[in-house]
Amino acid sequence: MHICVMGTGYVGLVSGACFAEFGMQVTCCDIIPEKIENLKEGILPIHEPGLQELVDKGLREGRLNFTTDQAKAIEQALTIFIAVGTPAGEDGATDMRYVDDVADTIGQYMHDYKVIATKSTVPVGTAKRIRARIEAVQPEPVEFSVVSNPEFLREGAAIEDFMRPNRVVIGGEDQHALAIMKELYSPLYLIETPFVITDTTTAEMIKYAANTFLAMKISFINEMANLCDVVDADVHDVARAIGLDQRIGRKFLHPGPGYGGSCFPKDVQSLAHFAQEAGVKLQLATAAHEVNQQQRGRMVEKITAMLDGNVAGKTIGVLGLSFKPNTDDIREAPALDIIAELQQQGAHIKAYDPVAIPAAQQVLRDVEYCKDSYSTCSGSDALVLATEWNQFRALDLKRVQALLNQPVMIDLRNVYEPETMKRLGFRYTAVGRRS
Ligand code: UGA
Repeated sequence: MHICVMGTGYVGLVSGACFAEFGMQVTCCDIIPEKIENLKEGILPIHEPGLQELVDKGLREGRLNFTTDQAKAIEQALTIFIAVGTPAGEDGATDMRYVDDVADTIGQYMHDYKVIATKSTVPVGTAKRIRARIEAVQPEPVEFSVVSNPEFLREGAAIEDFMRPNRVVIGGEDQHALAIMKELYSPLYLIETPFVITDTTTAEMIKYAANTFLAMKISFINEMANLCDVVDADVHDVARAIGLDQRIGRKFLHPGPGYGGSCFPKDVQSLAHFAQEAGVKLQLATAAHEVNQQQRGRMVEKITAMLDGNVAGKTIGVLGLSFKPNTDDIREAPALDIIAELQQQGAHIKAYDPVAIPAAQQVLRDVEYCKDSYSTCSGSDALVLATEWNQFRALDLKRVQALLNQPVMIDLRNVYEPETMKRLGFRYTAVGRRS
């Protein structure tokens, strides 16, 4: 079966490579020629564990192709996935420009029946919008189906999430299109993946509800952590104990500097925004967002407090810049806002990240980028652990202590045990842990 994937961002590239691995014939399209030229050579625009191997294999075995020739790719494919970016506009509304462009292109170039599936996270009602745009630009009426097939993969675990998902959601208008979609995912029947088959609007709604609920869980535990800090309780015990209630569940209750990335911040705001336009006030989504924004400021206060209330003229070493480990993605990364605020208050910043330094250099100036964790510690008045990369979990703490001007660590990801750190002679603080 021929598939075309429009957009070679995170979702598009991973989906394309995984469908090729499922045995489909996949053409990934993008309008940026340089990106496509690189991909043809197997040079990826993102860092994602396991993706390089899949792309190399797909290219070698001829099932994965890259092109800027949208007309040809559309013509060859039965199913076209829309996986272009849906950035947030100024007011929290989703910028639909790229989705609209792709819909228009599909409408212009389709000459026979197609299934058009959205994989990007798109506002509720987008399937109907795509149908209307395609019908408006088609040179002559050709039948097609629009399907919503939201993607739930996480950066850093994208291949595993695609290949072994908790569920596949397909929203469609007709049985024929649903049957084609189910066929694409048939390898997942073997591992008994549950399928949720519904209408397009509901499928669009599911994606936002899932991300907003997860974001809410994080903001909830962050509020509990902030309270634990004040009443001298341990949020890890709170999270574990409440999480053992299966109605709550243990995952996504890890406190920290708040969620970042290209999904949660944007999706939570986007849901609140279009709900408001529909006349519904979503108080929980709005609160999750506000708590998340404030959490960054609280982290700065934590750091400042450990430096006697004043960071001006002090050097602060920061470990981790990406919004989470195993990715070079710095979009909405808490570390960036925290660094910018510390700089604003007059601190000098040294920073290290295993892969995100080139990305950070584009947006954060006046930072002394270091070659590893230890050179970041050297001459710093405090060490801030901002992203929990595995290599930061096993630091040689004696060495860290010797290199720092004073043994101060602010662990924003709760990687270390307060007791151990105290025993080693650190002045240590984490998020919601007795220290
Ligand atoms: C998220 C969802 O987890 C995916 O299911 C979804 O497909 C994706 O958004 C999307 O909409 O495309 P992702 O943004 O890649 O995936 O990353 P997560 O692993 O979910 O982490 C998001 C943020 O939450 C990170 O900043 C992480 O540090 C933070 N987080 C996560 C916490 O602070 N505490 C936790 O307990 C869990």
